[in-house]
Amino acid sequence: MQNKRILITGASAGIGRVLALKLAARGNRIVALARNREKLGALVAEFPEIETVALDLSDPQALRDFAESGWNGDLDVLINNAGVQDQHRLVDPACSAAVMIDEVTTNLTAPIVLTKALLPQLRASQSALVVNLVSALAFAPKDDAACYSATKAGLRMFSTALRAQFPRGELRVLDIFPPLVATAMTEGRGPEIGKGKITAEQAADAIIDAMDGTRDRALIGTARIIAFLSAIAPKLATRLMSK
Ligand SMILES: NC(=O)c1ccc[n+]([C@@H]2O[C@H](COP(=O)([O-])OP(=O)(O)OC[C@H]3O[C@@H](n4cnc5c(N)ncnc54)[C@H](OP(=O)(O)O)[C@@H]3O)[C@@H](O)[C@H]2O)c1
Repeated sequence: MQNKRILITGASAGIGRVLALKLAARGNRIVALARNREKLGALVAEFPEIETVALDLSDPQALRDFAESGWNGDLDVLINNAGVQDQHRLVDPACSAAVMIDEVTTNLTAPIVLTKALLPQLRASQSALVVNLVSALAFAPKDDAACYSATKAGLRMFSTALRAQFPRGELRVLDIFPPLVATAMTEGRGPEIGKGKITAEQAADAIIDAMDGTRDRALIGTARIIAFLSAIAPKLATRLMSK
């Protein structure tokens, strides 16, 4: 992936930040979208050519205003990476309506609305690509992340619908299924790095490899096992994810 104009949501931290820096270092022109202006500033300090858009994707009105603004970045690639995960069972008071609405808006509504808004400029590109950061939880849910799992299953279905609407030559849609990645989202949980968990660097490298390839989906590390298991023994896969 070189000399492309790429918008990455959630580029201020975690996988998105590493991805933005690696893609910029390859000569791509990056637009980094996130809500935290300070973190966006730190990214630009590291790579001054990166452009930024500060937008809170959990705010439906802000999302709508951006979509209707006619913003044009002459994009070739959109990477829907921003995401949040609440980890509480539904009976836990911390799993409030407000938290769930934020999660659905950020993880599902935002990628759908952004893709629709940016489609005209993407389709004008010879190498139009939408990359969606999904999750193995789109195959088998985790008991304390019901809402998150549902948003990722929805995002996966949105990718399938996009492929049904647009021939491959007009728009390529790539789903990324990372395993556990060591970022703020997974801090303090899961196995150690190397034992089922990978670094954001490794995740970004695998994503760039997939972008350079031709497949519709990239199952990284243990996500491959979950995808396989969910097809042959879905209850077992769900039990494993909830352990
Ligand atoms: N980490 C994993 O194990 C894992 C596994 C499978 C899939 N994924 C998926 O990979 C993607 C990246 O995850 P990560 O682990 O890198 O997460 P992370 O380290 O927590 O970073 C999340 C990024 O999303 C942005 N973001 C969150 N809420 C936002 C909002 N309302 N508006 C705009 N930007 C917002 C954050 O920006 P601010 O700094 O501005 O808040 C940040 O840049 C997510 O979609 C996640 O679901 C992660």
